[in-house]
Amino acid sequence: MQAIAVERGRNRPVVVDTERPIPASGEVLVRTLRVGVDGTDHEVISGGHGGFPAGSDALVLGHEAVGVVEDPGDTRFSRGDVVVPTVRRAPGESNEYFARGEPDMAPSGAYHERGIEGAHGFMADYFTSPEESLVTVSRSIAEIGFLVEPLSVVEKALELAAASRSSFTWEPSSALVLGNGSLGLLALALLRQRAEYDRLYCLGRRDRPDPTIDVIERLGATYVDSRETPLGDVADAYEPMDLIFEATGYPKHAFETIEALAPNGVGALLGVPGAQSFEIDGGALHREFVLQNKALVGSVNSNVRHFEAAATALEAFPEWFCDAIVTGVYGLDEFEAAFDDDDTTIKTAVQFSAYEERR
Ligand code: NAP
Ligand code: BGC
Ligand code: ZN
Repeated sequence: MQAIAVERGRNRPVVVDTERPIPASGEVLVRTLRVGVDGTDHEVISGGHGGFPAGSDALVLGHEAVGVVEDPGDTRFSRGDVVVPTVRRAPGESNEYFARGEPDMAPSGAYHERGIEGAHGFMADYFTSPEESLVTVSRSIAEIGFLVEPLSVVEKALELAAASRSSFTWEPSSALVLGNGSLGLLALALLRQRAEYDRLYCLGRRDRPDPTIDVIERLGATYVDSRETPLGDVADAYEPMDLIFEATGYPKHAFETIEALAPNGVGALLGVPGAQSFEIDGGALHREFVLQNKALVGSVNSNVRHFEAAATALEAFPEWFCDAIVTGVYGLDEFEAAFDDDDTTIKTAVQFSAYEERR
């Protein structure tokens, strides 16, 4: 079968031939439909994040997959089920985090991430997965099911943020998403579903006309241009925010978020920046945390519960939104286009096979 991999020393994806995997007991063989591409894939390809499986000079890419059960083996699944795999797997023996169903809370070294760190990904004609790492989704989202994984990451971050505000009556009504990439726009659409957020903002650094600004405004949110209004000025220029969701990977945003929050507000940080040094007024930020009861939470990955919530949310997304953000789905013959990263590209996917509902 064919797969898309990045090889050691080469910073671009290539098609490789690999063996079709054979499912072990408790595993499912899945025929891959589509696999999405995100900022993390670009970081993996450039060598800035993740790593090769032990003993391998290539990593099969892809962590945002949707597929159809080809062979359910001895699992609870049935042939034809539409499924989405979670990303983390235990390295060798299982550990307490996996045993609790919370692999997303495992520290570095206690997990592999398929397509990212230490384990091959889903960009192949077929993949296998343990049944506990697969989530069944509605057939109605078979074609956009590759959005479930990134949306599950948003679900988890919002859950962590709300949990940090659970000891008092927190009634947020304003939210700012930092970043107009695919993760930022998915977060904005998810917040739009939540009635309590009647004022939404999204920060980017693009000139009009731009397809992401069109999406932001069609969602009823205000576009904030960080070149005119840096995050540190947002509270004065617009309003202090109850919730800030960071999806830029720009490290200053972690600290400017503290100033941009309203009293009792919370920021969720998701970006994975490289090393960068700059000056901050640590004392002022420390005071702000304490005297204004502010919180910052970091969030990575997600577990089965978040995937299930994400699949439900995705079913209710307006059709125009998915049509607007999925700017390209490419077959293996033109897979390079799925890795283009220009201003007309929002979310792309590679298609390995087409979804045909069984009669
Ligand atoms: P992406 O497509 O690269 O999106 C990042 C967006 O942020 C881009 O649209 C970029 O604008 C914008 N941006 C960057 N710096 C900015 C600045 N200073 N001011 C305004 N806008 C700025 O990446 P993504 O896939 O959406 O992911 C976003 C980040 O989350 C990445 O760092 C990724 O690694 C991380 N991530 C984390 C998790 C997790 O589990 N924690 C999951 C998925 C992704 P331009 O396009 O105009 O340059
Ligand atoms: C993936 C997560 C992963 C994170 C860090 C993200 O793009 O969606 O599943 O945990 O990168 O590698
Ligand atoms: Zn991702």
